[in-house]
Amino acid sequence: MPLVTSREMFQKAYNGGYAIGAFNVNNMEIVQGITEAAAEVNAPLILQVSKGARAYANHTYLIKLVEAAVIETGLPIVLHLDHGDSFETCKSCIDGGFTSVMIDASSKPFEENIALTRQVVEYAHDRGVVVEAELGTLAGIEDEVKVSAEDSSYTRPEEVEEFVSRTGCDSLAIAIGTSHGAYKFKPGTKPQLRFDVLEEVARRLPGFPIVLHGSSSVPQEFVKMINENGGNMPGAIGVPEDQLRHAASLAVCKINIDSDLRLAMTGTIRKYFAEHPADFDPRQYLKPARAAIKELVRHKLIDVLGCDGKA
Ligand code: G3H
Ligand code: 13P
Ligand code: ZN
Repeated sequence: MPLVTSREMFQKAYNGGYAIGAFNVNNMEIVQGITEAAAEVNAPLILQVSKGARAYANHTYLIKLVEAAVIETGLPIVLHLDHGDSFETCKSCIDGGFTSVMIDASSKPFEENIALTRQVVEYAHDRGVVVEAELGTLAGIEDEVKVSAEDSSYTRPEEVEEFVSRTGCDSLAIAIGTSHGAYKFKPGTKPQLRFDVLEEVARRLPGFPIVLHGSSSVPQEFVKMINENGGNMPGAIGVPEDQLRHAASLAVCKINIDSDLRLAMTGTIRKYFAEHPADFDPRQYLKPARAAIKELVRHKLIDVLGCDGKA
């Protein structure tokens, strides 16, 4: 099976009350950990690549790793550009074999966001590629774009119909209180997503797939593993998984997870080195890191996204 778009996946997810996991990939072990878990539970997948991932690992290597995963698993897999910041980056991914791109012009004024998104949609749709857009801004760090908590803003539901009809985008990322990275909520406060915003967006866009970025839950077992083995991450707090599960049962069809993979990998490697200080063979420490990613993704697919058995 070749790489697929998310069109049919999202329709089924919307109607079935579950979401597709969109996991960021940067190297072979991450691709393997994610796709081995998905194969075991027969889940459809979105593997996404950021601008930073392309700069780190090279476009061609990433494409070939994802193609290898398709061959190995036989799963329906979407290859998606995460946070495309310009027409040129999106074009390069569309021309280079991606089946889905995100144009993130959410930090621009409304009319500029519409114009740039429309330009990408026209180019992408002519080539059979789907487009995710964003309205509202998340706090946190995405590549070089740093958005402070004060500058972040919830999506305004009254803007979504005009935005979607004028851009022709295929899915829409909205801001309801998630944020990028491992420090999402102030310690001591109760993390709470704005389901009222999500429900109002869904009411205005019936049947339309909604995307949640910044959806790592920051498992405390990995934060502890990092802190107990030379790291220093006090106050790392994520989105509660029950709230993500609830979002998946509503209009949210794609849930983005990256930081949790990083925490699993880093925690496992730190622990490995604390226990095996003389080892220097990368296979020895990357093997448990890959296994930790696999176990984490398996849990997300079954218990958070509800997409097991849906491939
Ligand atoms: O949303 C951001 C993703 O976690 C990608 O992060 O730009 O550091 O690759 P990155
Ligand atoms: P996290 O930092 O919460 O994993 O979010 C990832 C993301 O939104 C990628 O686009
Ligand atoms: Zn994101």
